[in-house]
Amino acid sequence: MTPALALTGVTLVHGDGEETVRALDDVTLHVEPGQMVAIVGPSGAGKSSLLAVAGALVAPTRGDVRLAGVDLVAASRRELSRIRREHLGFVFQSGNLIPALTALDQVRLPLTFGDVAQPRDPRALLDEVGMAHKAGRRPHQLSGGERQRVGIARALVTRPQVLLVDEPTAALDRHRSQEVVALLARETHDHGVATIMVTHDHDVLHHCDLVYEMADGRLSPVGV
Ligand SMILES: Nc1ncnc2c1ncn2[C@@H]1O[C@H](COP(=O)(O)OP(=O)(O)O)[C@@H](O)[C@H]1O
Ligand SMILES: [Mg+2]
Repeated sequence: MTPALALTGVTLVHGDGEETVRALDDVTLHVEPGQMVAIVGPSGAGKSSLLAVAGALVAPTRGDVRLAGVDLVAASRRELSRIRREHLGFVFQSGNLIPALTALDQVRLPLTFGDVAQPRDPRALLDEVGMAHKAGRRPHQLSGGERQRVGIARALVTRPQVLLVDEPTAALDRHRSQEVVALLARETHDHGVATIMVTHDHDVLHHCDLVYEMADGRLSPVGV
């Protein structure tokens, strides 16, 4: 199977002169459709840098990055923004919702930025993440776990091929953490998404198909 996301020999050096940091050091990671990959590792290991390169937000210093076969290193800025809009979904620590919008409008939002080939129905998607009954609520009227569910629905509404998730359970208790990661795994498997989740939470790793550890910018596989 062609990987949805392929990073090959990726190195990312921040800064220049004597103040350089090698945030990624010869990282190779291929993620297939329907695969949920977890990355664990200490603070400063390079996890967010990896998501930034995979999400076409930062160009690698060296190496190859392909999303759905498209070479991100060679792509123009215009192509990169189209790829981010159409093929990538992002989920952040605490949902990153817009305070003034209802849950349903948060999910509709990514469809207002331009044409989306095959959007999912926002109402049906809210239902799928268990939030249909709170479609009219604003973020301050939702719990942390509920906000995260809405954030996941928002990330999936464009039917992205790749989903990038940074510490989704950092603000949640144990029970909600399990629910949220189980939801991410179910969406990944049912909709053939290639998901990378960065986490500190070892209790959620059993939901993932592959686990890697990052240390000093280097990635190595861990047995689940
Ligand atoms: N924009 C930047 N400029 C300079 N150094 C950075 C930048 N972003 C991250 N770093 C450095 O790169 C290393 C990896 O950071 P990061 O990817 O944020 O790690 P993690 O997400 O695992 O905590 C750290 O040493 C960090 O200080
Ligand atoms: Mg980080």
